[in-house]
Amino acid sequence: MFVTQVKLNNFRNYADKVFEFSKGLNVIVGPNATGKTNLLESVYMCGLGTSPRVTRDKDVIKWGEKGAFIHLELQTRFRKHTVDMFIDCKEKKRVAIDGIPITRLAQLIGTLGIVFFSPDELKLVKDAPVERRRFMDVSLSQQSSKYLFALSRYNAVLLRRNKLLKTLSPGEDLKNSLQVWDIQLAEEGARVIKARYAFARELKKFAAQKHVVLSGGRETLSLEYESDVADGDEKLIAEALSQKLFMSYDKDCSLQYTTVGPHKDDIKISLDGIDVRKFGSQGQQRTAALSLKLAEISLFKDNMGEEPVLLLDDVLSELDEDRRKTLLKETSAFQTIITCTEYTEGVEANIIKMN
Ligand SMILES: Nc1ncnc2c1ncn2[C@@H]1O[C@H](COP(=O)(O)OP(=O)(O)OP(=O)(O)O)[C@@H](O)[C@H]1O
Ligand SMILES: [Mg+2]
Repeated sequence: MFVTQVKLNNFRNYADKVFEFSKGLNVIVGPNATGKTNLLESVYMCGLGTSPRVTRDKDVIKWGEKGAFIHLELQTRFRKHTVDMFIDCKEKKRVAIDGIPITRLAQLIGTLGIVFFSPDELKLVKDAPVERRRFMDVSLSQQSSKYLFALSRYNAVLLRRNKLLKTLSPGEDLKNSLQVWDIQLAEEGARVIKARYAFARELKKFAAQKHVVLSGGRETLSLEYESDVADGDEKLIAEALSQKLFMSYDKDCSLQYTTVGPHKDDIKISLDGIDVRKFGSQGQQRTAALSLKLAEISLFKDNMGEEPVLLLDDVLSELDEDRRKTLLKETSAFQTIITCTEYTEGVEANIIKMN
């Protein structure tokens, strides 16, 4: 799929502006502080519903204005779609797909597939497990509304269970009340874990291939989903998770939160057998993160029949010349929108000049 047009009103530094995009490579080029990342951010928001940079929607409203508006047009392999997003300084934001208002943001996810990469995404490889879980969750949610649904229910039940554990008074026995939550937690948790195992397995194949290309064949990347519960069919996973919840009852009560489940899982990423999370150099981590993102695109294509849109913020300047060239070659088959301060690569592109 690809974005054909973005129209911005009172969004960040834009009062009123229209941008046209082409199918392949789009390069947003210009000096610092001219609105390159802001434009990428608007595309990201139409795909994933929230900003990659701020948690408060209203921060994207042009200073001094009451609301921002994004109109985005996209083309999938079947048809055209539009996404309209109104961000109000006082009310919740409103979204319409093809002119029809949606009631829950979850309905937007999957309309415009997005893979986003910025220097900050190094955290995917470097930081705590929460970043890698987010990566899996965002990717899987875009590919399956069933996954998004299971994950939201899991999180809702987990929240209630943790609340209950927090209110526990000394000597109180919560076993019976927790059991009600634990059945649901195990069922929804099993759906999440099973999907993530499959995701990691598929991603591993693609990521290994991408990494060979990006590293010039110098390193072998591998990854593994890490969970307290082994892979299996949904029923088996649910039973195993139930068992773990039961066994960790005393621990959960004393720590006052749920210590087992998919909200504690991780992906182990290794380069030539060494854990890149802990021991990788900056450059190795960057390349590994990029390999994962490119692998995510291939996986998306495999499952959805077409590639998502790749957004690359400030990535070229961080790579050496070989890797830059390889990256642009790897991304030529689908729509990529990149930002940079200078574009000297010479690869044919739709250039969007900022000044
Ligand atoms: N809510 C807002 N209202 C108005 N202007 C804003 C708002 N938020 C950010 N800006 C301005 O937008 C300008 C452009 O920001 P942006 O991050 O898009 O720059 P950029 O072109 O990506 O720069 P760089 O090359 O440094 O990454 C900033 O100078 C900032 O002051
Ligand atoms: Mg920027």
